Amino acid sequence: MKHFYITTPIYYPNARPHVGSAYTTIVCDAIARYKRMCGYDVAFLTGTDEHGEKLQRAANAAGVPVEQFVVEKRECFKALWRTLGMGEFESMDSLNQSSARSIGSFTPPIKRWFVHTSQNPAHVKSVQWMIQQAKKAGYIEKKKYEGRYCVFDERYVSDSAEPVNCDICGRPAELISEENYFFTLSAFEDRLLKLYGEHPEFVLPDFRMNEVKSFVKSGLRDISISRRRLKWGIPWPGDSEQVVYVWYDALTSYLTGIGFRGADQPGPEFEKYWMGKDGPAEVVHMIGKDILRFHAVYWPAFLMAANDALPATETLPLPKTIFAHGWIYYEKDKMSKSKGNVVYPEPIVKAFEEFGAPGNDALRYYLLRDTPFGLDGSFSYEGLVQRYNSDLANDLGNLANRCLSMIRQYLDGKVPPRPVSGQDPSAAGHGRGIENMVRVFRENFDRLSFSDALSVVGASVSLANKNISDTKPWELAKSSAEEDQEALNRALCGAADLLRAASVLLYPVMPTGTERLWRQLGRTSELGVERGDQLRPEDLEPGAEVGKPEPIFPRLKKEEILRRLHELAEEDRGAGVSPANSQAHEEAKLQSEDQRIENKEQKPAAPSPAPAASPGSGSQSSIVNPQPSISQITIDDFAKVDLRAGTILAAEPIPGATKLLKLQVDIGSEVRQVCAGIAEYYKPEILIGRKVVLVANLQPRKLRGVESNGMIVAASVGEDGRPVLATFTEDVPNGSKLR
Ligand code: MSP
Repeated sequence: MKHFYITTPIYYPNARPHVGSAYTTIVCDAIARYKRMCGYDVAFLTGTDEHGEKLQRAANAAGVPVEQFVVEKRECFKALWRTLGMGEFESMDSLNQSSARSIGSFTPPIKRWFVHTSQNPAHVKSVQWMIQQAKKAGYIEKKKYEGRYCVFDERYVSDSAEPVNCDICGRPAELISEENYFFTLSAFEDRLLKLYGEHPEFVLPDFRMNEVKSFVKSGLRDISISRRRLKWGIPWPGDSEQVVYVWYDALTSYLTGIGFRGADQPGPEFEKYWMGKDGPAEVVHMIGKDILRFHAVYWPAFLMAANDALPATETLPLPKTIFAHGWIYYEKDKMSKSKGNVVYPEPIVKAFEEFGAPGNDALRYYLLRDTPFGLDGSFSYEGLVQRYNSDLANDLGNLANRCLSMIRQYLDGKVPPRPVSGQDPSAAGHGRGIENMVRVFRENFDRLSFSDALSVVGASVSLANKNISDTKPWELAKSSAEEDQEALNRALCGAADLLRAASVLLYPVMPTGTERLWRQLGRTSELGVERGDQLRPEDLEPGAEVGKPEPIFPRLKKEEILRRLHELAEEDRGAGVSPANSQAHEEAKLQSEDQRIENKEQKPAAPSPAPAASPGSGSQSSIVNPQPSISQITIDDFAKVDLRAGTILAAEPIPGATKLLKLQVDIGSEVRQVCAGIAEYYKPEILIGRKVVLVANLQPRKLRGVESNGMIVAASVGEDGRPVLATFTEDVPNGSKLR
């Protein structure tokens, strides 16, 4: 039997998961179910990344010991996976390991495991062992580190002490100056490039592979993999003063999570799913694009380093594929805990369920159907409802309802026998139609083009609905002529057969609704073990008694469901306002904690006159942070400044100008071109989609020959006036006026 091991990233449990963080887990769940239906023995790992400075600060901010804080938050993740129809993820240690063996040709259930990195002795063994092997092989050295670190993304941003913002999240990076252990990543350049050349499937999609290759080709620098001033981490083996860098720790959890134990004998699952000792094994890491470098460069290098210390028979295989998907945006901004523009899945599920619809299916289907996988997508409540009503209620639900009601009404509630003659081979639900649907669905799903795979099923369902409307079974039923009876059987048999095949294909994405449909079709088998790869039209069971057609995907009134979605989202947000688990509350406290630490590190700024305003310099502190020395103005003076919320649609450097970027900013009524003096601190690509504040009534002027129509507002930080763009922590439509 073939084995398949899929992982999500392990999530930072500093706050509860949102739709963006649920995206990867939903995708992995769908893939895991699909692979099982294709006959694979599947293991699925998710978990929480609990060490590091970010978590320590989040716990401090909540006033809870960090050990307790992470345990509480861990549960929020497990609970959400349950809500989204994924059942229980268990810790490997709590399982009876002998149950993990596959028996005969039966496809075993998906093994769902949850790994957590703190308070986990097995994981300590794995991580320390990995470090020891790398050390043995000569890839670890101790030296002084000085540079800038982003606590939010737990990454080293620059090896210089110069102030700089993180190029992923845009936050100011903090200064670190300490003696650390370094991993000689530079030694792996050639081996990594060889790996990418020989295995183009190692990083997918291919445009991400190109990014990784150019990063490695541009030269790799050694990286610090320990932290001195931090206590919350895995102790560095043989040095009680240091803890292991959180990413080294986190990546190793992919091994611990399936039974790796360092020098100790690993569990049978590890031998099976990672080492491939019971037959071929494929390992796939599903991640978001922001953490590609850690997975595609660091992780294979860490594994190669350990392997260099091991005999050839014991080396650890590298994963087969790292797939980096895009981000889910919410109204043009990346959904993110810190920006406060988060959408939570629980109220969505609840709102749909109140109207009798499977909310988890609706969300899962919408995310996979609407966003071409690999690219960025955007979430909107309207889009969700629209997709649900059009594909699930009007098409699939309607077909199921019509077909089953008519089988009950005209055919005694029994699936009719497949007619032998008179088939239109191209019609949905008729032999060839189903074969085509299955083939094209599988081709797309196999290459993770979920949206295309789902649209193939959608098209067949629409065609089957049309077939019913065209053949009018309700009229055929009135006739006693033999050919009309045959035509009636053909129409309803075709529709029932299509529904059967669609249930199987859609099950990985919508496990709840398709299970209900399966039962209504009179099937008694377990849907999750149907072989999606061997679906044949002739599998229909004539004579099977269909169930009562209860609406599985009822049509929802747009205004009503939207109102409820917003109400519940609001309640959900409100419910967390005072208790310590509120997202906004935690983030605000976390940020003030960050600020406190940053202030402590920075020398007090010498009093300096407020910088003179110049369009687009991005450093006009007079607007957001008036200095006491500035004379007071009246409210009418302030009202003269037309401040607007906007979204950056495009950003590019201006040739010959090192400090300026040319931005296109959508301010609702129009798109403004603005020059901003932020090029030294912000890379153009991280600005796209960012919400900013624009002074909209500034006289236009030309900078380096480029017209600038307004000014972006930024705080001016530190002695060198480093610009930090002003933004919003809640969703604000473009063009909103600031007063
Ligand atoms: N702890 C690390 C991962 C370690 S894996 C060995 C981490 N955690 S995270 O919680 O910040 O992010 C986890 C995943 O969620 C990332 O893949 C990230 O891309 C994904 N997402 C977070 N917000 C997202 C969206 N708005 N949209 C899509 N994915 C998003 O990084």
